[in-house]
Amino acid sequence: MSRFFPVVYDLVMFPLERIWLGRIREALISKGSGMILEIGAGTGANFPYYPMKIEKLIVIEPDPGMILRSGLLKASDHPVPVIVQSDAQSLPFAENTFDTIVATLVFCTIPDPLLALREARRVLKPGGHLLLLEHVRLKGGLFSKIQDGLTPAWKHLAGGCHLNRDTLSLLKQAGFQIKILSTLLGGLFVVVNAIS
Ligand SMILES: C[S@@+](CC[C@H](N)C(=O)[O-])C[C@H]1O[C@@H](n2cnc3c(N)ncnc32)[C@H](O)[C@@H]1O
Repeated sequence: MSRFFPVVYDLVMFPLERIWLGRIREALISKGSGMILEIGAGTGANFPYYPMKIEKLIVIEPDPGMILRSGLLKASDHPVPVIVQSDAQSLPFAENTFDTIVATLVFCTIPDPLLALREARRVLKPGGHLLLLEHVRLKGGLFSKIQDGLTPAWKHLAGGCHLNRDTLSLLKQAGFQIKILSTLLGGLFVVVNAIS
């Protein structure tokens, strides 16, 4: 990934976060409790929304540039995360470790999302929660074809992001029970509580 990508990512996301995404992140992340793992934390957009009452926050992120930028966030009124450089497809944690896993806008980018979801389920305690915000492939119709057509070029521009991932089906294949909390922009985005 380009070393400028983390800065560009934050600049592009800034207005969206202010107007829209920030509130969605906050509502989702406030459901987290106990031992929490965040996957693909990027520049740390979720960090300010973690409640102080949680037991511990560990985040993993493979990209050193993202880690560097997330480390710039100063914790004053949120838990200080332990940041580990790692890949969600091979998590360096024992099974049944976490009460909650948070992943926002990540499974669109992970090369093998099913493998990563199985890893997430392995390290979650039974009955643990995977809190997800993802954009997904729409069900049929012209727009989903456009998503398919744009993805090869988009992947190169947007750090490996696929516009057409069917993440809900992958969650089922990985063995999660899915509770959809909300769908946004006509089903383009989903907010999910997936139970292990
Ligand atoms: C679109 S960014 C989202 C960042 C952040 N979660 C957010 O909501 O702003 C996707 C993130 O997934 C990370 N990522 C890509 N492949 C990954 C993998 N195999 N394991 C964990 N994270 C990965 C990227 O480095 C990047 O930080």
